[in-house]
Amino acid sequence: MDALEAIFTRQSVADVKPDPVPREVIEKLLSAAVQAPNHYKVRPWRFVVLTGAGRERMGDVLAQSCAVKFPQAPVSAQDKERSKPLRAPVIIAIGVDKPAEPKVLEIENICAAAAACQNLLLAAHALGLAAKWRTGEEARDPRLKEFLGFAPDQQLIALIYIGYPQGFPQAELKTVTRPGFEDRTVWMG
Ligand SMILES: Cc1cc2nc3c(=O)[nH]c(=O)nc-3n(C[C@H](O)[C@H](O)[C@H](O)COP(=O)(O)O)c2cc1C
Repeated sequence: MDALEAIFTRQSVADVKPDPVPREVIEKLLSAAVQAPNHYKVRPWRFVVLTGAGRERMGDVLAQSCAVKFPQAPVSAQDKERSKPLRAPVIIAIGVDKPAEPKVLEIENICAAAAACQNLLLAAHALGLAAKWRTGEEARDPRLKEFLGFAPDQQLIALIYIGYPQGFPQAELKTVTRPGFEDRTVWMG
């Protein structure tokens, strides 16, 4: 699959098999991610790879958070949170470094880390893996950030869920029809 085919056929796919993804495949995704452009070469991305029991511990953190935030909620609400990380065999959490010197801007670090996320999604697709970028309340949850080793003021920009597709093989996905660029583009000649 070439780059353009990957770009045009990639889509968010949440329905994945529980089968584990080999470590070398996950490493390939991370390696693709870090090919992204980044200003001042600060490499502002941080990855936390959750598999197996790591996802279960993440689920416990989400359940605990739910219990603290919504003490009146039924236990089933906590159970729902606990099960979220089990939706895929691999989750890669992506955090962003805060700038360490004045010339480095946080927005640019976030842009670079987001570019890394897109590289990762495209690489997953090209390797036959389904992936879905998620954030939701979880990405702003201080307890989850702490569990992942991120500082409270550090941005957690993605929880990318990855696994082998349950439905169509990735290679059979057709070009996705999305709104075009025309109404979002001004040409200045
Ligand atoms: C920053 C960001 C956060 C996202 N968060 C969520 C999320 O919390 N839940 C979700 O279902 N999808 C989330 N998505 C995925 C989008 O919903 C998805 O990309 C969009 O529906 C377009 O679908 P496509 O990826 O198949 O083109 C997120 C995407 C981005 C870029």
